[in-house]
Amino acid sequence: MDFSEAKEEVRKAADIVEIIGQHVQLKKRGQNHVGLCPFHSERSPSFTVNQDKQIYHCFGCGRGGDVFTFWMEYHNLTFPQSLKDLAERYNIDLPRYGDVAAEREKTELKEQLFKINDLAADYFHTTLVKNADGRPGRDYFSRRHISRETISAFRLGYAVNKWDGLVNYLRSKNISLGRGGKAGLLVPKKDGDYYDRFRGRIIFPIFDLNRRVIGFGGRILDDSLPKYINTPETPLYHKGDSLYGLDSAFKDIRERGLAIIVEGYMDMLVLRQQGISNVVATLGTALTSNQVRRLKGYTREVAVLFDPDDAGREAALKSFPLFLNGGISAKVLVLPQGEDPDSFVNRYGSDEFKELLRGETPIFDFYLDQALAHMDAGIDGQIKVLNEVLPIFMDIEQGAIKSLYVHRFSEKTGINEAVVWEELRRREDKRAESRDTSQIKNRLLSGQDPRKYGSDLQFLNLLVYYPETIDTFRDQEWELIISDPEIIKIIRVFMEKRPPGGDLDRIEGFLDSPVAKEQLRPLLMSEPMYTDESVSQAVNEFVQKIASVKRSQSMRKASAEGDIETLNRLIKARHDLDLPSKEN
Ligand code: CTP
Ligand code: MN
Repeated sequence: MDFSEAKEEVRKAADIVEIIGQHVQLKKRGQNHVGLCPFHSERSPSFTVNQDKQIYHCFGCGRGGDVFTFWMEYHNLTFPQSLKDLAERYNIDLPRYGDVAAEREKTELKEQLFKINDLAADYFHTTLVKNADGRPGRDYFSRRHISRETISAFRLGYAVNKWDGLVNYLRSKNISLGRGGKAGLLVPKKDGDYYDRFRGRIIFPIFDLNRRVIGFGGRILDDSLPKYINTPETPLYHKGDSLYGLDSAFKDIRERGLAIIVEGYMDMLVLRQQGISNVVATLGTALTSNQVRRLKGYTREVAVLFDPDDAGREAALKSFPLFLNGGISAKVLVLPQGEDPDSFVNRYGSDEFKELLRGETPIFDFYLDQALAHMDAGIDGQIKVLNEVLPIFMDIEQGAIKSLYVHRFSEKTGINEAVVWEELRRREDKRAESRDTSQIKNRLLSGQDPRKYGSDLQFLNLLVYYPETIDTFRDQEWELIISDPEIIKIIRVFMEKRPPGGDLDRIEGFLDSPVAKEQLRPLLMSEPMYTDESVSQAVNEFVQKIASVKRSQSMRKASAEGDIETLNRLIKARHDLDLPSKEN
């Protein structure tokens, strides 16, 4: 028995309802079992377990997965440990790790991509520090006061303004350009050729904790747009998962017990250059829970820099529950309006910045101060602030902590505490209600607003439960009736791999985008929307819908081009086709 067989054995033996049922009180509802979610606090059950598919999903907090995921999350264990636990429980022998074909293949691809990234980082870096055509990059960094030491410590680089700079370099190293494409460094052309993604930009390699290059950011040298481009999703790089500079900062973060979080590449580099070593950058995205989780390994205290303006106040408010629920205490360092750490240090010097570090404010106080400073007088102002803060209170998981903040909030704003609570409860009930699975199902079944394509869920549901219909759609432009690009990705995988019984594991493995992965679970949880009797009609309707979207597109095009003849033909065709179908 090999590793994946053993995993399958465990999966078969360990019934998910039984396992979860030992920790969560489950009630049968329709095809699912439901209970109160063990991962967030809720008063009406949105935690849903599906025995057929052996998966669970919480429609409240979005967490979910299979029996292994549950074991890992519930007991806070790694995958191998969970597999071992469950295998032991069900008396299943586990093979030794390491000789698993599928795992090895994935690892090999990743290794290749690491190697390509490393070559590319070398190429960009060498261009910057040694080559004649790296001059614009060198000039840029010196204008921004970035030293040679910093350039070499962070392997900064420059991508020449050519379409085939890296293409030629990788060719000379016998690297397949397709792999360069997989690494996100090259972009495929229609004719199968490739061109450089990063051109005429200074380059920031992004490292993992082992200091291996997982991706790149590239900044343009002037004011043209986009200012930054980044590696797209690849097997190595997932936006919002990593923190720039963590590899070189985590020791200092642990030692000082504090992580300073900034937004940008340049901010991180300039502070490092000033000897402030416990800094990481989020790279433009609002801080994510994955990033918080990473930091948690090193410290429970962070300092975030925000502007004292509307954007800063909102950003602070949004990140607040993330820190609170992650058990991290977050302080805010307030910069003068319009400055970022880089511009601040260059204007006022690093001593001033260190001074700033002392004047920290707890994140919620910062929010309150800002909100109060900008709050309009009277009832209207109070309503505005209340509306802003309630969704955030709703995200606070622990009741006791929530009470504390509600109390502080009403004390400071003068808004009656009972009113805050009442409004909060009302919204929480509403939220729980709208998540109720049966309601979701009803909404899906009633197929609201058929004119706005929105066939996503219905279409996927049809393919999942009636895979024999896949062939009908394979050569059709079905993408036209699907509005969510992530669902398009999922459907593509479905059509290509036809996973028997909609096997979640197998599909998930083929999806690159974490967003698509997230969406997959609730989709597969939805119960069949069609019956053996209604399938062929559903297929027909989808086929017609595709045709009708195509016609409207052609009509729009023809009318834009003033092509009256085509337009007339299309209008006539629509009459012939649409009229009968409208009647039923
Ligand atoms: N960012 C991005 N893509 C963009 C704009 C920004 O990924 N189109 C990310 C970058 O990581 C950037 C950070 O968001 O460093 C902050 O953006 P911004 O404040 O606009 O840039 P700065 O870091 O200040 O860059 P610079 O000082 O070079 O102008
Ligand atoms: Mn800046």
